[in-house]
Amino acid sequence: MRMNIAIDGPVGAGKSSVSDAVAKKMGILHLDTGAMYRALGLTALRKGIDTGDEEKIVGLCRALKIGVRHEADGQHTFVEGEDVTGMIRTPEVSMAASTVSRYAEVRKEMVRIQQQLAAETDMLVDGRDICTTVLPNATAKIFLTAAPEERARRRWLEMKEKGMEEPFEKVLEELKARDEQDMNRPVEPLRQAPDAVLVDSTSLTFDETVDAIVRIAEAKRHG
Ligand code: DC
Repeated sequence: MRMNIAIDGPVGAGKSSVSDAVAKKMGILHLDTGAMYRALGLTALRKGIDTGDEEKIVGLCRALKIGVRHEADGQHTFVEGEDVTGMIRTPEVSMAASTVSRYAEVRKEMVRIQQQLAAETDMLVDGRDICTTVLPNATAKIFLTAAPEERARRRWLEMKEKGMEEPFEKVLEELKARDEQDMNRPVEPLRQAPDAVLVDSTSLTFDETVDAIVRIAEAKRHG
């Protein structure tokens, strides 16, 4: 039977890096769905399209070919065949991704692609609506979170390591704004699925978080 692990959670809970490590340990691929919304957000910014204009964004989403490919160094994300992996992690693209992800028609298209990919192979999928909408029948469902200050601290460190120096307060503010937008949008807001297992990583190390999720996933897989 197909094995799918679904992980949802807010900004900066460590989803991406934790998901990568869990997938590696379990010998399966990791699909980062946020990268797809980021690719759309990036394209809107590049084309000068207002991300608040739903009609235009939905039109753009339908016209674009957004794809992912798994390579030795992880997931690569493509727009019309161009590898945009290195361009989608800036704060501007983060906010644009959060805004374009509010639109029902955008979500429908993204969910369709994600479901197709997950049906093809065993996969860990991370995002905001994976347990609730994309893979409601996943083998294991996890809601990964941490306190906002801790999430902001991790985000700040990660950005600093990449040479993007931002004041901590600004990172925290942006994180709260994005939480607010992701949790309060009318369509498929971020929330813990009733049958998802809560993993709070506030006081866990990276390795402890990875191990906790692998344990839960393995128990479900064999249970
Ligand atoms: O996980 P991330 O930070 O890369 O996601 C970027 C934005 O995309 C996030 O603010 C909300 C949106 N998103 C979503 O709505 N649904 C998903 N499955 C993944 C991301």
